Amino acid sequence: MNQLEVRDLCKTYVVNKRPNNVLRNVNLTVEEGEMVAVMGPSGSGKSTLLYTVSGMDGITAGRVTFAGREIGNLSTGEMSKIRLKEMGFIFQQMYMLKNLTIYDNIILPAYQAKSGRGVEGRREVNERAMELMRKLGIAEIGENDITEVSGGQLQRACICRSLINNPQMVFADEPTGALNQQSAKEVMRELNRINREGTTIMLVTHDGKVAAKCDRVLYIEDGNIKGEIRLGKLKGEEVKDRERKLTGWLWEMGF
Ligand SMILES: Nc1ncnc2c1ncn2[C@@H]1O[C@H](COP(=O)(O)OP(=O)(O)OP(=O)(O)O)[C@@H](O)[C@H]1O
Ligand SMILES: [Mg+2]
Repeated sequence: MNQLEVRDLCKTYVVNKRPNNVLRNVNLTVEEGEMVAVMGPSGSGKSTLLYTVSGMDGITAGRVTFAGREIGNLSTGEMSKIRLKEMGFIFQQMYMLKNLTIYDNIILPAYQAKSGRGVEGRREVNERAMELMRKLGIAEIGENDITEVSGGQLQRACICRSLINNPQMVFADEPTGALNQQSAKEVMRELNRINREGTTIMLVTHDGKVAAKCDRVLYIEDGNIKGEIRLGKLKGEEVKDRERKLTGWLWEMGF
């Protein structure tokens, strides 16, 4: 089954009575288990695309189908449930709650999804959180306040949080945008790993090194998908070749 199907998606923002057609008849399909990057100039509509296809923002026209359900037909309650339980979100501006530890931030969505209720629920959530933190190399900083960790550690905590409810699909807007090269590499290693374990991923990035690690890259310009390149699953060794191939293609796209 397709994880995500987008047909003739339009999004118009109206600011000071002036309509701004940010997305113009976007069509795309993301298959289950795929890892897709979205690239394009600043202001081309990348974030808007991510927010509309994940139901965080309403659409003006068109059709978005997530795991077989058209999201336009869902009630607000049904949509929030899907967002909470079936989707994970990672943002560049890391929305972590102050005055909570890293651990508490990570398990928060599990409590919102009510899976953390009762002794059994709490134990399960705790085990899952510990496992995720171990995998992402932040097991030792669970009790730290969010101000007491590095940018890379905080972003890895965001990834743990986005995965705590076992989502089918993760949406990430510039997940490495605030990170140095080394942390960006670590975050991408983790995203590639969770993708190999079956999570579908759609991410927005400016960074060719990041996009080169995805299966497919879409190029968006003026609210339209201008082209796409298929790189296939990352096998580890030929990253430089993928980067070269992608750079050449982006140049053709006018990036
Ligand atoms: N909430 C909003 N209300 C009104 N206009 C908006 C809103 N969000 C985005 N826009 C406008 O939509 C257009 C596309 O914005 P968007 O954030 O999707 O671009 P982007 O491709 O993600 O850019 P960047 O690479 O800079 O993040 C811009 O012209 C922006 O001003
Ligand atoms: Mg953006």
